[in-house]
Amino acid sequence: MLTVVISLGGSLVNPGKPDQQYVSSLFRVLRTTKYNFGIVVGGGRLARQWADAARKKGASEFEADEAAIEATKKNAQFVIDTIKKDANRVACQTFESARKQAKTHRFVVMGGTIPGITTDSDAVLLAECLKSKRIINLSNIDGVYSDNPVRNHNAKKYRRMSYAQMIDLAGKNDMRRAGTHFVFDFLACKLIARSRIEAHFIHGRNLLDVRKAVEGKPHGGTVVK
Ligand code: UTP
Repeated sequence: MLTVVISLGGSLVNPGKPDQQYVSSLFRVLRTTKYNFGIVVGGGRLARQWADAARKKGASEFEADEAAIEATKKNAQFVIDTIKKDANRVACQTFESARKQAKTHRFVVMGGTIPGITTDSDAVLLAECLKSKRIINLSNIDGVYSDNPVRNHNAKKYRRMSYAQMIDLAGKNDMRRAGTHFVFDFLACKLIARSRIEAHFIHGRNLLDVRKAVEGKPHGGTVVK
């Protein structure tokens, strides 16, 4: 069976408090497809709170990242405990362990790994590790836009992009506004390009589109390939 990797935004799993109903409905959809899944869960607001709290106590950026990674792992464990069946029982800490777990489980779930990156890059690395050629980024945004669609109502949504366009946009976005959170981090963009992994950007609560993206069918989000 082929493997699809999902980068599951922390803001979907834990938008203030853990959302069991959402996670259950997402996995009901994933189970009805014919694929295996690698799933990397983000930290969302919990990660930012933990990192800020660490910084206030004088932590370095490395240590703030370590605190944020703990949040991603907590969210990953919440996902595992919610889906119960066919998944590793403890969130994988390394790609090596994810590779091992993928031999015996349909769903392999992990959080972040090392300071300095985000779960976007972890998800692409997991895709490379599991030899997956399709990654689906689920967040609170329904695609890739030319600018932050919340702040700029004239921002244009891309339906299809090349790797070069995506790298360019992620790079420009980093420089344009320090601290702006682009939908996919720059390293992750470079990694999908080097392995020619198809990336789909979908609103995580649009489960119809989630299914279409998993199955490689046309959907309302953005495809980078
Ligand atoms: P996320 O990947 O969840 O960031 O990692 P995000 O994109 O802001 O969150 P979502 O999409 O809303 O879920 C949260 C933070 O955890 C640290 C970084 O500080 C990152 O900003 N992190 C995560 C790491 O340092 N390494 C990792 O491998 C993953």
